[in-house]
Amino acid sequence: MFKNSNFIYYLFILSTFIVLNVAACKELGVFQKPQNLTISEGFTNPLGFYDPNPTFSWKLPVSEDVKSQSAYQIVVASSSDLLPDNADLWDTEKQDTCQSVWIKYAGKALQSRQKVYWQIKYWNQDGEASKWSDINHFELGLLNNSDWKGKWVGLDTAKDSIRGKENVIIHKPQYLRKGFELSNDLALARLYITAKGVFDVSLNGENVSDDVMSPGFTTYDKRIETLTYDVTDLIESGQNTIGVELASGWYSGRLLWGTTPWDNSISPKVLVQLEITMKDGTKEIIISDETWKGTTNGPLQFAEIYDGEIYNANLEMPYWTTHNFDDKNWRKVEVANLDKNVKLEPKRHTAVKDKIKIVPKEITKKDDAVIFNLQQNMVGVPLVKVPMKKGDTLKIRFAEMLSPDGTFYTKNYRSAHSTDYYIASKDGDIEYKPKFTFHGFSYVELSGFDGSKEPQKDWVTGIVQYSDFDENGTFTSSHEKLNQLQSNIVWGLRGNFLDIPTDCPQRNERLGWTGDAQVFGPTSMFNADVYKFWASWLQSVREAQLEDGAIPWTVPDSRGNKIASSGWGDVCTIIPWKIYLRTGDIGFLEDNFEMMKQWIGYHQKKSKNYISNMMSFSDWLQPFPESGNNRGDTSRNLIGTAFFAHSAKLTAKTAKALGKTEEQAKYEDIFKTVAKAFNEKYFDETGKVKGVTETQTSYLLALAFDLLPENKRENAKANLLRKLEEADNHLRTGFLGTPLLSKVLDETGEIDLMYKLLFNETYPSWFYSINQGATTIWERWNSYSKTEGYNPMSMNSLNHYAYGAIGEWMYERIAGIATIEAGYKTIRIAPIPKAPLTSASGSLNTPYGKVSSSWEIKNDNFQLKVVVPPNTTAQVVIPADTKEELRLNGTKFSDTKNAKLLDKGKETFQLEVQPGTYTFQSKIK
Ligand code: BGC
Repeated sequence: MFKNSNFIYYLFILSTFIVLNVAACKELGVFQKPQNLTISEGFTNPLGFYDPNPTFSWKLPVSEDVKSQSAYQIVVASSSDLLPDNADLWDTEKQDTCQSVWIKYAGKALQSRQKVYWQIKYWNQDGEASKWSDINHFELGLLNNSDWKGKWVGLDTAKDSIRGKENVIIHKPQYLRKGFELSNDLALARLYITAKGVFDVSLNGENVSDDVMSPGFTTYDKRIETLTYDVTDLIESGQNTIGVELASGWYSGRLLWGTTPWDNSISPKVLVQLEITMKDGTKEIIISDETWKGTTNGPLQFAEIYDGEIYNANLEMPYWTTHNFDDKNWRKVEVANLDKNVKLEPKRHTAVKDKIKIVPKEITKKDDAVIFNLQQNMVGVPLVKVPMKKGDTLKIRFAEMLSPDGTFYTKNYRSAHSTDYYIASKDGDIEYKPKFTFHGFSYVELSGFDGSKEPQKDWVTGIVQYSDFDENGTFTSSHEKLNQLQSNIVWGLRGNFLDIPTDCPQRNERLGWTGDAQVFGPTSMFNADVYKFWASWLQSVREAQLEDGAIPWTVPDSRGNKIASSGWGDVCTIIPWKIYLRTGDIGFLEDNFEMMKQWIGYHQKKSKNYISNMMSFSDWLQPFPESGNNRGDTSRNLIGTAFFAHSAKLTAKTAKALGKTEEQAKYEDIFKTVAKAFNEKYFDETGKVKGVTETQTSYLLALAFDLLPENKRENAKANLLRKLEEADNHLRTGFLGTPLLSKVLDETGEIDLMYKLLFNETYPSWFYSINQGATTIWERWNSYSKTEGYNPMSMNSLNHYAYGAIGEWMYERIAGIATIEAGYKTIRIAPIPKAPLTSASGSLNTPYGKVSSSWEIKNDNFQLKVVVPPNTTAQVVIPADTKEELRLNGTKFSDTKNAKLLDKGKETFQLEVQPGTYTFQSKIK
C-alpha cells in the first residue's frame, strides 16, 4: 500500500506523463482523415485492374490543422480484417516525407484475380497523426494470356456479309449464346470478356453493364483490352444463359483506308471466361468454346461505326439470353485459338458510357419528316420513342447543321452514311437506341413514323457518349463569347474522347490522328480527368511505333503506310512531358522515355545535316494559304527541323527528371545542334526568315521552341509582330502554329495583342465561328459563314478539337492557374486581368486537391480570391499599383506564416502563400 502523500505524488507524476504523452501523440480528428484515395492514374476501387504494381495517391483534407504532410504510412493486405495492424502484403511503416502521390507499390507480388485492401494515414506539419483512412480496394483482372482458358468464338460472317461503301466487307451482327447449369449455390462470379469487334453481354436476360462499344480501340495486332464484371447477382443455381451481341466496331469494321496492321476482314469474335466460386469453395468455369451457338438472323441486321444501324423488330428473339429459348436453328460457332503475339490486358482506362442527356429545344415539320434541333453539336446516339405502324421503316438521319434552305448539311459526313433504320413489328410506340454505332449531330430527322400522330419533342433524346471521365476544372468569365468558346472546347472534348482521341466524330474518319492529339492534349487535361485516357492511348502509341522509330499518322494505325509526319509524331514527346508537368508522376516519363528516344532517332534518320526532310502535314489548314494548299505556307522542312529540336529538348528534360545525366547531355547536345542548324538555315542576321516563305508560324516555332540565339530573338519577335500587323492583327496559323500564339505573345510581353487576337470577331478568329452559330470547335476557321454558307470542301468537320488548344492559356493565364513544380506541388497563380474582361475564374483538381483563382475588377479595385490545396505552396502574383496598399481578407496586408510578401515590383505584388483560402484586394491603374 502507498502512503497517502506518496500516492498523490505518484498520481501527479502519472498524470503529467499521460498529458505530455497525449500531446506528443495527438491524433487529428475524424474529419481530417485522408481522402480521395486512388491508385495509378486515378482509379477508385477498380475491378479488373490492369496493373499489379500500382501507385498510391491520396489527398489531405482541407482543414485549419492540416497544411502539409510530414509523413505517411500505407498498409496493404489480402483481407480487410487484417488492416491496419496485420498487413500481410505491404506495410511501409512511417515514412518521413511530404510525398502523398504516386507512391509505388513494393510489397509481395500480386496475381491475376487477387483482391487487395489498403489504407493510409499521414502525419501533418506538426507531426500529429491522422486517423486511418477508410479501407479502399482493388481487384486485378486476368493479367496474362495464360490465364485465359476460353477461345475466340463467332460465326463466319463472311458468308452473309455484304460489300459496303469503298468495297469493304461489312459483317452482319451476330447473336451468340451458351446455356449452363449450376448445381450448387454460388458465392462470387466474375465475367472476363473481350471481342475482336464490339460487344454487349447479358446474363439471364439482364444487361451485364452499361459500357458502350467495348472493348474499345487499341493496336489490335499487339493488344486487345479485356473487361471484368462482377456478375454475382445475375447468376442463379440451376439453369443459366449467357448471350453476347457482337458487331464489327473498329476491329473488323470499315475504317478509312482500311489497311490496318490487323486483319479487319476477319469475322468478329468474342472471348469469354465466366469464373464462379461456389459457397462450398468449389469453382466452376464457363468459357467460350465450340459448344456456343450463334445466328445472324436477329433484329440487328447491320451495324457500322460510320454508316449506322438497321434494326428489324420483326426479327426480335424474346428471351434469347435466358434458358427459355430454343436455339435449335442456330449455327455452331467457329473457334480460334488465342493469338501468340497479341497481348490480352485488362482495360486500362474507363469504358465509354452514356454521359449526358440532351432534350431537343425545338421541332420543325418538313413534308413527311420532323426535325429535332438539340441546339448542341454532340456525339453519341439518339434515344427514340416514337409511334409507328407495323411494317413501316423509321429512318433516322443526322446533321451537325442545316443548310440555309433548312435541309440537312451532310456533305461533310463524306462517305459515312450515318443513318439508322428501325422496322416496326407492331402498331404503337417503339423505343430504340442504336448500340454499335455513334453519330456527330445537332439535328435528328425522323421519317416513317405514324403520320397520324402529332410529333412531340420527347420523341428524341440526345444521348452523349464518351469515355467515362469526370470534369476536372472549370473556367468562366464576364464575357459571353469567351464562355461560349470554353463551352465549345469542352464539347469538342466530349465529342472526340470516345475511347481514343479522335480528329472528328462524324465523317468516315474518327481516327486517332496524332497531330490533333498533340495540339489539344494539354487543354483536355484542364477540363477533364483524362490522365487514364491519355496513359492508355500512349501505350497504343508505343505499340504502334515502327521499328525505325516512326510514329504512324494515326494511332491505332488505321493506315499502315509506315511513315510519320513531323508535328504529328511529336505527340510522343509532347504529351508525356505535359502529363508529367500536370501530374508529377515520374513513372509516366519512365514508361515513355524509350519511345521518345526512338522518335529522336527517326528525326535523325529523316534529316541531313540536322535539317529535316520528314514528310509533314505542316501547318494544316492555315487560313489564306498562298499555296492554295491544306498544308499552308510554312516550309515543311522548317517545321520538321523545329519539331526535331523541340522533341530533343523534351527528351533531354525527361532524361534529367529521370536522373539519367548522360542521356540528358546527349539530347541537350542534339537540341543545340539542331537549333543551330535551324537558325543558320532559316534565319538571316537580322532575325528574319530567309530562303522560305515568311509566315507567322515560322516565327512562332522559332520563338516558342527557343531556337534562336539571344541577339536574334527581339528581331524575330518584331518580324512576327509585323506579320500579324500585315494581317490586320489576325492570326494566319493552322494546327501547329495556333497553340503557340498565346505562349509566344505572352512570354514576349505582348499580352495586349494576344487579348486582341482572342477577342477578334472577324475571320480568322475563335469568335468568328461563334458568331456563325458554332457550339463546338470547327475544323476550319471558316467551316461555315452566314454570308457565304459552308466551306466548299467536304473535309469540313464541325467538331474538331484542334483550335480549342487555346483553352490551356485561358486556364493558365486568364484565370491564372499554372504549375511551377511538376504536379502543382508549387502552384503559380498569376492571372492577367484585361479589358474587355471584368472578371474571370478557374478551378482545377490537382493531385493535391482543388486550386482556384477568381478575379474581378470594379473601377480601379482589383480583387483576387484564391484557394490553395493542402501540401502545396503557391506563388501568387497580384496586379497592383504597388504604391497603394494590398489588403488581405479586408485588412491591410502584413506578413503572416500563411502569406509572405516575396517581391514588390512596380505593377505586381508577389507573395508566397500556404494552403488556405484568401481574398486579396489591390488598386490598379
Ligand atoms: C484529319 C486531321 C488530320 C489530318 C492530317 C485529316 O483528315 O481530320 O485532323 O490531322 O487529316 O493532315
